[in-house]
Amino acid sequence: MTGGRLAGRVALVTGAARGQGKAHAVRLAQEGADIIATDLDVPDLSAEVESCGRRLVARAADVREAEGLRAAVADGVAEFGRLDVVVANAGVAQVAPSLSPEAEDVWRLALEVNLTGVWNTCRATLPYLIEGGRGGSMIITGSTQAYKSTPGTAAYSATKTGVLGLMRALAIEYAEHMIRINSVHPTTVWTPMLAELSPDGMSEEELREFYRPVNGLPVPWVEPEDVSAAVAFLASDDARYITGTALPVDAGALLVGGRAKRGGAS
Ligand SMILES: NC(=O)c1ccc[n+]([C@@H]2O[C@H](COP(=O)([O-])OP(=O)(O)OC[C@H]3O[C@@H](n4cnc5c(N)ncnc54)[C@H](O)[C@@H]3O)[C@@H](O)[C@H]2O)c1
Repeated sequence: MTGGRLAGRVALVTGAARGQGKAHAVRLAQEGADIIATDLDVPDLSAEVESCGRRLVARAADVREAEGLRAAVADGVAEFGRLDVVVANAGVAQVAPSLSPEAEDVWRLALEVNLTGVWNTCRATLPYLIEGGRGGSMIITGSTQAYKSTPGTAAYSATKTGVLGLMRALAIEYAEHMIRINSVHPTTVWTPMLAELSPDGMSEEELREFYRPVNGLPVPWVEPEDVSAAVAFLASDDARYITGTALPVDAGALLVGGRAKRGGAS
């Protein structure tokens, strides 16, 4: 248990079924928040959230579909009576050379989920933050790929740079309501996404070797909980005057020229 910086508050996390979203939901519950969790399928988080003594509303909601997402958020707010923290985490990553036949579908899906999905999440939740009159904190998941790309990741990089612009624009637009909007930019994070993007047939030791050049610190990746710690900080009053900021959780990846030898979006 890491204290109660979010005691009495309510947090929405999208993409909460696995990976970083799941870790964020658990960490925010540990910090005292009740959780509204969404994913393509209903996230199964009740044991984790209830073991923190917090409550959970879990819904299936595709971030690409604004109406369904709004309904899920409305259910959560009806149950808990307020909304304070929004973590727009849901995302997809696919690697495809830009001139390959599959690049069009990859481009479309990346824009729909990683950019329009975040936009939908912001639009579904901002009215509650404003109406609450208590301010709020929104955290958008970017990537180091907002700053530094790798071959075959044009769609992914474009969307992650896109959310940086969206974050800054919304941060200034809603500052007068004391709503803080920031982004986190992880390097490689050991989640199902990274495992699925990794070359087939490599042992864990080989994967560690493969990803190690990505980062400045001598680690191949960070854990989801490392990103959750940054999310929890930005969500909390410890960050009460931090807004419009892009926070790398990058193990120094942005300091070095190395990259995984093939593919491997982050
Ligand atoms: N893993 C990495 O190396 C890495 C690095 C930097 C940034 N990121 C970003 O972190 C975020 C979380 O990724 P992760 O590593 O936990 O990946 P993940 O694939 O393990 O989890 C992503 C979750 O998002 C959900 N999702 C996908 N499309 C959705 C949609 N249309 N509507 C609702 N939910 C949807 C998935 O079902 C899944 O549960 C993403 O935005 C990703 O781009 C990941």
